[in-house]
Amino acid sequence: MRLANKVAMVVGAGQSPGETLGNGRATALLFAREGAKVLAVDRDIAAAEQTTALIRQVGGEAEAFEADVVSEEALRLALADCIGRWGRLDVLHNNVGISVAGGDATPTEITEEAFDRIMAVNLRGIVLACKHALPVMRKQRCGSIVNISSLAAIDNYPWVTYKASKAAVIAYTKQIAIQNAEYGIRANAILPGLMDTPMAVDTRARAWNRTRAEIAAERDAKVPLRNKQGTAWDVAHAALFLASDEAGFITGVALPVDGGASCRIG
Ligand SMILES: NC(=O)c1ccc[n+]([C@@H]2O[C@H](COP(=O)([O-])OP(=O)(O)OC[C@H]3O[C@@H](n4cnc5c(N)ncnc54)[C@H](O)[C@@H]3O)[C@@H](O)[C@H]2O)c1
Repeated sequence: MRLANKVAMVVGAGQSPGETLGNGRATALLFAREGAKVLAVDRDIAAAEQTTALIRQVGGEAEAFEADVVSEEALRLALADCIGRWGRLDVLHNNVGISVAGGDATPTEITEEAFDRIMAVNLRGIVLACKHALPVMRKQRCGSIVNISSLAAIDNYPWVTYKASKAAVIAYTKQIAIQNAEYGIRANAILPGLMDTPMAVDTRARAWNRTRAEIAAERDAKVPLRNKQGTAWDVAHAALFLASDEAGFITGVALPVDGGASCRIG
C-alpha cells in the first residue's frame, strides 16, 4: 500500500488496441493496487472504462473521465472532477504521447500539421495539465508529478516531432521541479526505452504492414538486458516509486527505464 490514502490522476490511462498491456493502463492498475484512488483520464472513454473496470474487479477505487489533452478546458474539467470527488490531488501522471500514429516524419518530410498536432498532444497537454494541477498541489504543500518522456529524447531517433517533444518534456519537468520545490512538490520524468506495448509494437506493425512478432523480435534484439523489451509493468513500477513518498527527496530526475540502452549513449 505504497500510495495509501492518495489520489492520483493518470492522463492517458486507457490504451491502444493490441495484445499486451500499455504503460498508462499498467500504471493506473498499479497505483490503485497500492491504495490510490485513481481518476483514469483518456480521450477514448471506452479504453479508460476498461482500465477502471480492471481496477474495480480487484477491489480498487477508480473513475473514468473523458478528456482530450489538446483541450485546456477538458483538462481543467478533469482536475475539477478529481478534486470534487476526492478533495485533493497527490499524484499527476502524464502518460499521453503519440508518434507514428500522429503522422510524425523525418526533418525533411515533416508537415506543419503533424508537427503542431504531436507537439500539442505530447508537450502542450503536459504543460496545461500541470498548469491546473500545480495550484492545487501548492495549496496542499505536497504532490508528485510524473511525466512520461522517452529514451528517444536523448537517443538517435528518426522522427523529428516525437524527439523534440520528448526532449522538451524533460526540460519542462526540470523547470517545474525547481520552481515548485519550495512547496514540497516533486516533478520527475521517466524515459521508457523499448517496451513491448501496443502503442510501440502493434501500431508499427499496422502502419508498416508487418507482423507483431517481426517488430517485437527486432526491438528485442536491440535491448542490452536479456535481449528483451521491457513491459508496461517496468514503467509502472518506476512511476510508482517516483509517485510514492519513498522518492520524497527525488525531484527533477529523468529516469531511463530501458534495459541499459542509454549506457550506449555518450
Ligand atoms: N512503448 C514504448 O516503447 C515507449 C517508449 C518510450 C516512450 N513511451 C511513451 O509511453 C507513453 C504511452 O504509453 P502507452 O503504452 O500507455 O500508450 P497507449 O497508446 O497504449 O496509451 C495512451 C493512451 O493515451 C490516449 N490518448 C492518446 N491521445 C490522447 C489525447 N490527445 N488526449 C487524451 N488521451 C489520449 C490513448 O487513447 C491511449 O489510451 C507515451 O507517452 C509514449 O511516448 C512508450
